[in-house]
Amino acid sequence: MPVERTYIMLKPDCIKRKLIGRVIKRIESKGYNISNIKMMNLDEKILTEHYAHLVDKPFFPSIVEYMTSGPVVGMIVEGENAVKGMRILMGATKFEEATAGTIRGDFATSTSENIIHGSDSSENGEIEIKRFFGENA
Ligand code: CDP
Ligand code: MG
Repeated sequence: MPVERTYIMLKPDCIKRKLIGRVIKRIESKGYNISNIKMMNLDEKILTEHYAHLVDKPFFPSIVEYMTSGPVVGMIVEGENAVKGMRILMGATKFEEATAGTIRGDFATSTSENIIHGSDSSENGEIEIKRFFGENA
């Protein structure tokens, strides 16, 4: 099993609701290693890159509004099959499909305000790590 890196981001609702510790505890309890972490404020430019697959959707402006409503916590998370494993730990994107026991299933309040981001492939993970932590990360 390959050791992989994935980009994980705790979204503004996670920080506002004081859930940082509880969500990080789940990531560490699963055995993943957090190799870098920082709090930051995002702007529309970086969000347009990060959510390039959604720019044409009618809800894109509301994603920007939500993701700029407060700080986020970005992390590099490492472990065996970390990309897929973190997606399982996070739960489904669709609010009604996120099962109990997953981070989104337990904490998300809607499909948009859903606590956490995780890369959807190893390739995108590396791109996102460089986007948020720099070319040498
Ligand atoms: O975050 P994930 O990779 O599971 O889903 P995505 O399809 O890449 O969408 C990115 C983010 O856009 C989601 O996490 C939601 O915050 C938001 N979104 C939304 O507000 N409404 C949708 N119908 C789909 C996504
Ligand atoms: Mg995605």
